[in-house]
Amino acid sequence: MAVIAVANAKGGSGKTTAAVLLATELARSGSDVVIIDCDPLRLAANWADKCGDGRILAITDATPSTLPEYLRRLHRPGCDVIVDLSGARDVLLALTLGLCDLVLVPVQGSAMDAAGAMQVIELIQYIEANARGRINRAVVLSRVNPLVTTRSLRKVRDLLLLRGMAMIETPITERGAYREMFEHPGTLYTLNEARGRSFDKAMVNMQAFVRDVMARVELGGREAAGPFARMCYQHAAGGRG
Ligand SMILES: Nc1ncnc2c1ncn2[C@@H]1O[C@H](COP(=O)(O)OP(=O)(O)O)[C@@H](O)[C@H]1O
Ligand SMILES: [Mg+2]
Repeated sequence: MAVIAVANAKGGSGKTTAAVLLATELARSGSDVVIIDCDPLRLAANWADKCGDGRILAITDATPSTLPEYLRRLHRPGCDVIVDLSGARDVLLALTLGLCDLVLVPVQGSAMDAAGAMQVIELIQYIEANARGRINRAVVLSRVNPLVTTRSLRKVRDLLLLRGMAMIETPITERGAYREMFEHPGTLYTLNEARGRSFDKAMVNMQAFVRDVMARVELGGREAAGPFARMCYQHAAGGRG
């Protein structure tokens, strides 16, 4: 079981797109996937409700008091949880950062996105310092032009690497298919089949991105599950015993 949070204080950085790609591919590999959609716009949950994949479910009413209970209930092999955060810097964000196995921070090649990412990273560091635990996190470059690397993208990447940020090797490329998933109900797989469209490049990118994300989750190992996680799940074990 993995709990992956997608966070960036900047709206439009590609959080929901990354969350949906993760859900698609994890379900494809046989997991039950629960998207905890923390954004009042509910774009990820709407997608999940209509995507036609019975393995993908959405929760839209998580609050700081209900999130730990949801995670406790979902904590079982074969179930992965993706928390799609809003841009809000609130208690739900802080709690999620402390409870997940990996914080994924999508960043477009722009200074504004990098600033939004730094807000999340500073909060992670604050929690780490105060809760004395490590939070596994990585940046993923999003909406990357598959053909050219722009100067601002290079600048953002260099800045983040300079700050010691781990980076998911496969960036999420800019693809029309990643917009179409929200316009027509379905996953890339079902859209590909139903509409006879060739989403090959998008699917190869999605698969490589998710493989790299899961390798990063594994790299963290159980030890790296957020500093609040032990408290949360030990409590559950105690309750059952
Ligand atoms: N890789 C991508 N390729 C094409 N469009 C994208 C990509 N990533 C994001 N978008 C588009 O950019 C907008 C914002 O993306 P979204 O994932 O909703 O960001 P966030 O959840 O951070 O606000 C949406 O219209 C989305 O369709
Ligand atoms: Mg979003």
